[in-house]
Amino acid sequence: MSFDNLLLERDGPVAVITINRPQVLNALNTPTLDELHRAILELKHDAGARVVIITGAGDKSFVAGADINELAVQRPAQGKEHALRGQHVFDLIENMGKPVIAAINGYALGGGCELAMACTLRIAADTARLGQPEINLGILPGYGGTQRLPRLVGKGVALDLLLTGRHVTAGEALQAGLVNRVVPAAELLPSVKALAGELAAKAPVAMQYIMEAVNKGLDVSFDKGQFLEATLFGLVASTDDMREGTKAFLEKRKAEFKGR
Ligand code: COA
Repeated sequence: MSFDNLLLERDGPVAVITINRPQVLNALNTPTLDELHRAILELKHDAGARVVIITGAGDKSFVAGADINELAVQRPAQGKEHALRGQHVFDLIENMGKPVIAAINGYALGGGCELAMACTLRIAADTARLGQPEINLGILPGYGGTQRLPRLVGKGVALDLLLTGRHVTAGEALQAGLVNRVVPAAELLPSVKALAGELAAKAPVAMQYIMEAVNKGLDVSFDKGQFLEATLFGLVASTDDMREGTKAFLEKRKAEFKGR
């Protein structure tokens, strides 16, 4: 796969996607969003890829939002299509069936914060700044921000961030539940790669079903969510990995999962 605006590296089961437009703080223009779509689809269908990391090039920014040059000239119908396209790509990231970790190495603003929220886990450098500053441009988030932010941090904090457009520090984001962990900037990628390696050794099918149960369960009633959980619990009993995991525990050894 070749890209103009992304870097894609592989280290065994871990893939690292780097959004690579540092001259505009990795802002997402349409070609970059299309490349991200292509990269995610490819990794989704690549059985050898177990965990994906998304980060930004340079040490200043993860992604500073959608490209404002494109937003400045859009008309209503284009605006709607633009938002739907971004939502589609981010939904794909959220539901690709493999954990995706955002390594937030700097500004995660607007579409950058929305991209991070679509990821399964968010690890931030202590220098990172997050926010949804769209209100300052006279627009609202269009890549799922008004929906994912309240689900992550609650309605009160979400409305504060959405209406003021203020940037929060990594520490405040941690306190609010917007990120999972904060690490010193120099340790960000090593920490995220270590976490990715840890996840890559877990049972892939069970991992996929956990993410499905959480993602789909949040959109339905508690009762329906529990029913989905029970169905997936039954389905996972058909896997070799379930037999290996339980047997390894009883034999007091480390399980070796094969993803089947
Ligand atoms: N779209 C397009 N270009 C962007 C951009 C974006 N979202 N964010 C930054 N850039 C560009 C700047 O225009 C600038 O380009 P230039 O060198 O040609 O002037 C370059 O990236 C560097 O940004 P700059 O603003 O000079 O850096 P800074 O350190 O002073 O400020 C930010 C950093 C992130 C606070 C500031 O760039 C910013 O507010 N960006 C927009 C964030 C935003 O509103 N995102 C939501 C978009 S929906």
